[in-house]
Amino acid sequence: MGAALSFDFDNPIDRSYTHSVKYDLRQARFGRAEVLPLWVADMDFAAPPCVESALAARAAHPIYGYTVTPPAAAAAIAAWQQRRHGWAVAPEWVRVGPGLLPLLAVSIEAFSRPGEAVAVPTPVYNPLFECPERLGRRVIRLPLRLGPTGPEFDLDAWAEALTPETRLLILCSPHNPCGRVWRHDELERLGALCLRHDLLIVSDEIHADLVYPGQPHLPLASLSAELAARTVTLNSPGKTFNIAGLNTAYAIVPDPALRERLHAALQAHYLEGPNLMGLTALLAAYGEGEAWLAALMAYLADNLDLALATLAPLAPRVVCARPQATHLLWLDCRGLGLPDAQLHRRLIDAGLGLSPGTQFGPEGSGFMRLNFALPRARLREALDRLVAALA
Ligand SMILES: Cc1ncc(COP(=O)(O)O)c(C=O)c1O
Repeated sequence: MGAALSFDFDNPIDRSYTHSVKYDLRQARFGRAEVLPLWVADMDFAAPPCVESALAARAAHPIYGYTVTPPAAAAAIAAWQQRRHGWAVAPEWVRVGPGLLPLLAVSIEAFSRPGEAVAVPTPVYNPLFECPERLGRRVIRLPLRLGPTGPEFDLDAWAEALTPETRLLILCSPHNPCGRVWRHDELERLGALCLRHDLLIVSDEIHADLVYPGQPHLPLASLSAELAARTVTLNSPGKTFNIAGLNTAYAIVPDPALRERLHAALQAHYLEGPNLMGLTALLAAYGEGEAWLAALMAYLADNLDLALATLAPLAPRVVCARPQATHLLWLDCRGLGLPDAQLHRRLIDAGLGLSPGTQFGPEGSGFMRLNFALPRARLREALDRLVAALA
């Protein structure tokens, strides 16, 4: 609790005209520039003071020339994975790149060919199926099943859907937009399916640090040597420390042959060099950012309690399972019986900018995604508007 008191998440910070996607693209996205933005998954909180001061110190040195990734970066990443997720990562398994999505695109290029298939559990953060589509891969959608505690893998149906041309499975773990943290037994059974069908796995674990107490995140590659040998884990300090604009992420590839293929693909696109400021922020955040992260998670948990309590009276027309991770609520509005466009419109008219569920695939029809990482007073205002609009 001591840590929770030392950082200020209540203070609203004006982000307009900072080239922020969440604020500056409101007019284009919602047709109204003044909606309260609850869409893009970044946070309306200042980055940790240790990151701010490291960036300021580096900015004070006026030469911003070509930069190498020092061994300290892979060491910091390995130490972070060990400390936070109990995964023993050898520093040589790590490759740094300019964002998780660029690393995803390069992985798809390295491990599949145009015309081959890539399987993706859906609904999911849309670039995870758009990226393979853009690269000319056939996407096999694997719909999640709605179980009593939230979305679940539907492995028997998925086994039927896979074809001999399927090379890769892209996993989102923890899951955006549903907020699930996949359990050990779920990951084991998914892993067994991938082994049976000889699939490589790209595991997007960017939300791994934003997990609430109760169920720990398990890096898929930490489950067994067999899975480690066929998994490329992608991660980044971008979500955890609210530094997505610094475009720095990494891949962890235990298998030397896969690592060499990924490395060659990164080289082919000249994507190996780090972003100077992103590298500076990563070192500061992973080195000194844990007290801030503990305080952030405590604040987010209180925001989550407030959101669930405020929205509870809307049930059963609007319901929401408690997310186990992320600052995202996956609101099931199907009980309202509104077409998607009308649901979206009604919230825009109430001055709210949420992500429509269909953005994450047709399985998201009737859902809306709400980002609750904002100062509590503004969240309260947003929730009150939401209840008034949907009651
Ligand atoms: C699951 C997931 N993967 C990747 C990203 C984007 O990562 P990056 O900004 O490092 O490309 C996001 C951003 O919302 C995300 O939610």
